[in-house]
Amino acid sequence: MATFIETESTRIFIDPGVALGPRRYGLPPHPAELRKMEEIWLSIEDLAEKTDIFVITHYHYDHHSPERAEMLEGKTVFIKDPVNRINHSQKRRAKTFLSLLKDRSEIAIADGQRIEMGNTLLEFSPPVPHGTDSKLGYVVMVYVEEKESFIFTSDVEGASLDEQIRWISERDAETIFVDGPMTYMLGYRYSVKSLEKSIENLVGIMGNRLRNLVLDHHLTRDINWREKIAGIFKAGEDLGVNVLSAAEFAGEKELLLEAMRKELYEKSGLER
Ligand SMILES: [Fe+2]
Ligand SMILES: [Fe+2]
Repeated sequence: MATFIETESTRIFIDPGVALGPRRYGLPPHPAELRKMEEIWLSIEDLAEKTDIFVITHYHYDHHSPERAEMLEGKTVFIKDPVNRINHSQKRRAKTFLSLLKDRSEIAIADGQRIEMGNTLLEFSPPVPHGTDSKLGYVVMVYVEEKESFIFTSDVEGASLDEQIRWISERDAETIFVDGPMTYMLGYRYSVKSLEKSIENLVGIMGNRLRNLVLDHHLTRDINWREKIAGIFKAGEDLGVNVLSAAEFAGEKELLLEAMRKELYEKSGLER
């Protein structure tokens, strides 16, 4: 989800991190995944140097990294409120991370804030549940507007909840980067009802300014993600909205390495 945004006035880096699923199909990350992760870290560090403002939408390790806190040295960092509307585990991680940023970075609480820098508007949502409920805590969504408008939903896993989609819908951005429904856990840790609601909600925001609906993260852990959200592709075609993965949006090859983990092990003949 690491997302770099450049406007005429400023350069913003949202959630500068990358992580691998520790277990999938009972398997640890394949060496191909580890190699790709290191490659991505290099580009994150490269972009971090050019960044004016960092945003940390929540404290999961795929969205921030205490081991690389020095990356944020001397920068402004907008963070999810580390004390209010946060679960226990994230509160603990936030405390650790903030102790590392102390005396190093300019810290500001993001939740519900609205800031203007030159011609760029930066707005944060109030905290919304991480996914379909708040068991995993809360995240803040980010809106950036200059000549174009953009939303980063963070880990909403949908967005299936009214409070998530309402804020997104009110901003009516041209490009939205959504953490899509967690279909690889369908019927297990993600209900069919939540999937249906997410599809309905995302189709519902089409038809106005929206041009690019970028769906990724939890959704693209499912190799068959396109089939699971066929209704969104159909509506996109009808209403002139590009529906695409982050890789497609960036003009890169889609590499769903975690979803292909079993095949990667089989092909390389590696022991599990
Ligand atoms: Fe998360
Ligand atoms: Fe995440």
